[in-house]
Amino acid sequence: MPMLTEGTLIAPSVLSADFTRLGEELDSISDADYVHYDVMDGHFVPNLSFGTAVLSQVKAATSLPIDVHLMVANPEECARWYLEAGADAVSFHWEAQTHAARLVSLIHDAGARAGVALNPATPVSVLEAIIDELDLVLIMSVNPGFGGQRFLEGTIGKLRTLRALCTSHGVRPLVEVDGGIGASNAGVVCAAGANLLVAGSSIFGTTDRAAAIAKIRTAGDLGLAREA
Ligand code: DX5
Ligand code: ZN
Repeated sequence: MPMLTEGTLIAPSVLSADFTRLGEELDSISDADYVHYDVMDGHFVPNLSFGTAVLSQVKAATSLPIDVHLMVANPEECARWYLEAGADAVSFHWEAQTHAARLVSLIHDAGARAGVALNPATPVSVLEAIIDELDLVLIMSVNPGFGGQRFLEGTIGKLRTLRALCTSHGVRPLVEVDGGIGASNAGVVCAAGANLLVAGSSIFGTTDRAAAIAKIRTAGDLGLAREA
C-alpha cells in the first residue's frame, strides 16, 4: 500500500538553476510541489550558496512553497532569518545542532514545517527521540555541498530503516531524499519509503523542465505503488 495517497512530491533544487534568469527558471518548474532552497555557509559544507535576500526574491517570484535546507553550522541562530524571509519548511542538520526539540518548536511557532536532515554517515537511530515532532525527514543521498554528485546506494537501506522507525512510532512524516536523484532511481527510493524527491541537475540540466518533473514523478509513483 502506498505511504501517501497524494503520491510523489517533487522539489527542484534551485542550486542548479541559472541565477542570471532566476524568475524564468522558477516559472519553468511550476509543475513541481516545492522549491528546494539550499543554504550553504562554507563551514558546515565546503561551499557557499545564497542567503535571505535571494530567498525573499524567490518567495515573491513563485507560488510554490519553499523548502529550505540549512547546511549551516549554526542553525539555531539562523533558522529564524529564513523563516522571516518566507520559508514554508525548514530542515536543519542533526550534525550541526545541540537542542533539536527547541529548534523544531521555533520552526513550528513560526508556522512552518520542521525537518531534520541526516548526512550519509549519520544513522537513522538518532531520530528516535524526536521523530514524533517532525513533519519531514531529509535523507542525504550524497555528502552535502554540491549539486550533480552521484547517488549513494546505501541510502536505500537507510530509507527502509526510517520507514520501520516511523511505523513503530505511528507517524508519517514526509520522507525527503536529496542528491543524485533522477528518473532512473526515483522508483527505488520511493519503494523504500521516500515521497519527496529533491532534484537539481536532473531537472535544471534539461530544456523541458515540465517533462523532467513528470518523468521523475511517474517513476516515483510506480515505486510508491510497489513499496519494497
Ligand atoms: C547538495 C544539495 C542538493 C543538491 C542536489 O548538497 O543539498 O539539494 O542541490 O542536486 P542534484 O540533484 O544535482 O544532486
Ligand atoms: Zn538540499
